[in-house]
Amino acid sequence: MSVDGVIETARALLGRFDGPELAAFMAGWPSRDTGRRLIEPRPLPVLRWLDRLAPGAVDETRPLVGDLVAAAADLAWGQTYAAGDFGERFLERYGWSELIGLRGPIASDRLACGVLLLGPDLEYPAHSHAAEEIYIPLAGTARWLRGGEGWRPRRPGELIHHPSGIAHAMRTDEQPLLALYLWRGGDLAQKSTILGVAGRRSDGGDDDHA
Ligand SMILES: [Fe+2]
Repeated sequence: MSVDGVIETARALLGRFDGPELAAFMAGWPSRDTGRRLIEPRPLPVLRWLDRLAPGAVDETRPLVGDLVAAAADLAWGQTYAAGDFGERFLERYGWSELIGLRGPIASDRLACGVLLLGPDLEYPAHSHAAEEIYIPLAGTARWLRGGEGWRPRRPGELIHHPSGIAHAMRTDEQPLLALYLWRGGDLAQKSTILGVAGRRSDGGDDDHA
């Protein structure tokens, strides 16, 4: 599976949604003749959960999950955080790969698009960034926190919009999570501002992230 094939499949999935929020992102989607970067494949420990993603997909997201699993070994997987941020356990269960953007195989300074992979039983603590963001979970039903809303389970195929600067967080349970993300505006390579507490895994507190 080529990276171009993955990006075509991602574009097809995004075409199933409408609404002004996504339209603003898609206006920055690169054309087919956009320059390509040669990417050195880079694996991460979180890839051990790739083979547990398929059962957590839905019909609409299954093609992209399949393409991503097939292409994963050819992608560069990265981490924005270090052990000092959320601990070593987090780094064993977290990684992302950019498809489009300042670093990915398709160059863009208007839009970043990639995938986030989280292992099971993990909290990605509350964080924020200047870029506006859309997530579409592809495999795995995790709980998501957005601003002052409580934790909500989000199924694959849901569109989650994070306006600039809003606090957001995710918690996986038994299933790993693969999610497509889009960023626009702000610094497309910015490290998020951390708002949460490392290692916290209480199921009660909804309001201690801010
Ligand atoms: Fe984010």
